[in-house]
Amino acid sequence: MDIRYFDDRTALYTAVSEHFQQAVANGATTFGLATGGTMEPLYENLRNSDVDFSTCTSFNLDEYAGIDKNSPHSYYTYMHEQLFNAKPFAASYVPVGDADDVDAEARKYEALLQANKRHIQLLGVGENGHIAFNEPGTSFDSETHVIELTPSTREANARFFSSLDEVPTHAVTMGIASILDADEIILIACGENKRQAMEALVDGNVTVEVPVSILNNHPNVVIYTDLKLPVAIK
Ligand code: F6R
Repeated sequence: MDIRYFDDRTALYTAVSEHFQQAVANGATTFGLATGGTMEPLYENLRNSDVDFSTCTSFNLDEYAGIDKNSPHSYYTYMHEQLFNAKPFAASYVPVGDADDVDAEARKYEALLQANKRHIQLLGVGENGHIAFNEPGTSFDSETHVIELTPSTREANARFFSSLDEVPTHAVTMGIASILDADEIILIACGENKRQAMEALVDGNVTVEVPVSILNNHPNVVIYTDLKLPVAIK
């Protein structure tokens, strides 16, 4: 794991944005993208850069279940507002949250992922250690599936809705095996509320109780963080 610590968030997001632009310059074409507050400064930098994704393909990590893609709360809308309207890709995929059969949608999405290997997978982390919406306890072998969100994740995401009741109870999410299939993983973790999950990650103990800990088993992970993390000496 390559941990890149920045005490200055502006410098951190400049570095992540440059990492993306360099990857495109080096021929990367297939990207796994994430949503959430953590990603907003990155997408702002990319919007304002001269990066060209017009020959690239993107796959988002997840989408709320039962939500219309045109809802202001959908991750489809988030991605268009944050990135795709300004920097269109040749093709961008976000799971269809209001598909008639969401389990079938999850299987279809997984098949697409398996046919399009991601060069880079972008990740944030939940306070409880979730990656995408793989909550604690999710199998490391999981592929794209429908998951019930934990109360703590719904509460953490309520800030994007007008009330907690409006936050969907389920989501379609890439599984942990789907995430690990990417060639390179970039994880961004900023803020003290992510410390517990990040300390569990760098501690090196891989457990389904802290999904992000599985990144210890991936050969090519770069972490951008503003947290000073104790790194275990093994
Ligand atoms: C988003 C996602 C989530 C978020 C995580 C952190 O697509 O998959 O795992 O990365 O919930 O969210 P923020 O960045 O809002 O703290």
